[in-house]
Amino acid sequence: MSSPEEQAFRLLTEYANGFMVSQVLFAACELGVFDLLAEAPEPLGAVAVAARLGTSSHGTELLLDTCVSLKLLQAETRRGKALYQNTELSSTYLVRASPKYQGNMLQYLAKTTYLCWGHLAQAVRDGKNRYPEAFGVPSDELFTAIYRSEGERLQFMRALEDVWSISGRHVLAAFDLSLFPLICDVGGDFFKDPLPEADLYILARVLHDWTDTRCSQLLARVHRACKPGGGVLVIESLLDADGRGPRTTQLFSLNMLVQTEGRERTPAQYLALLAPAGFQDVQCRRTGGIYDAILARR
Ligand SMILES: C[S@@+](CC[C@H](N)C(=O)[O-])C[C@H]1O[C@@H](n2cnc3c(N)ncnc32)[C@H](O)[C@@H]1O
Repeated sequence: MSSPEEQAFRLLTEYANGFMVSQVLFAACELGVFDLLAEAPEPLGAVAVAARLGTSSHGTELLLDTCVSLKLLQAETRRGKALYQNTELSSTYLVRASPKYQGNMLQYLAKTTYLCWGHLAQAVRDGKNRYPEAFGVPSDELFTAIYRSEGERLQFMRALEDVWSISGRHVLAAFDLSLFPLICDVGGDFFKDPLPEADLYILARVLHDWTDTRCSQLLARVHRACKPGGGVLVIESLLDADGRGPRTTQLFSLNMLVQTEGRERTPAQYLALLAPAGFQDVQCRRTGGIYDAILARR
């Protein structure tokens, strides 16, 4: 049995090295390890993987064995040689041909989000996103920062779509939406462009990008456009009432700090935005997944 002090040190070490775990995952995806193993007719050794990926055999062996520790790969030893294949986790989420592939989001996290997180302390100091340091683009016009090139825009869109193959069904099943014949999924430049008339407006991962003031402006616009008897469905990751969990949502909230001008919110904080905009009967449903649903009526 280890002492409480030793257990605390182990936890500290795990936290300190957490970024290395992410990088193993990102690198294995970027190099195409999981696609190669999915396409191979049988498990492959490190030398064969290295030859097909054009990587060093030394680095490849280290990466593959670390993936085994992380349950991203499994290995069996035949005649003293390790042979690698995908696990259920990697087959489901990390192979490009899978309908639940999450690789676009992982690439976005690796190439964009990770760079902003390198400046988290400064974001906490000044409360601003970190696009200037990470990419040399101004932080005050989010649209320009987030969608700074056509390639980046497409990458972000593909990344955003990945999650709906997992969470879409849960958030849409949270409420009976059959009451709303005409549904508008709000996107584009919704602060300026006229909103089409609809029975239900979906704001999915939109309010978390913005300050309370901007959210209030947007919700007031949605309320004005909404048909009588209609409503708004807000899809976000909900914080616990005291803001101290769930951990993934807290990390998302810090991510909003480094990448946007918003935050994740508690049910009470969404109520405080929706009610003054004129919405009533605000109901929050936790789905048990990453994203939750809030329905409010006009
Ligand atoms: C995080 S995306 C969410 C997209 C989609 N609803 C989803 O959940 O996958 C944010 C949306 O806000 C829109 N948007 C409007 N004005 C924006 C601005 N100034 N900066 C960033 N995004 C903006 C984008 O076009 C995009 O559709």
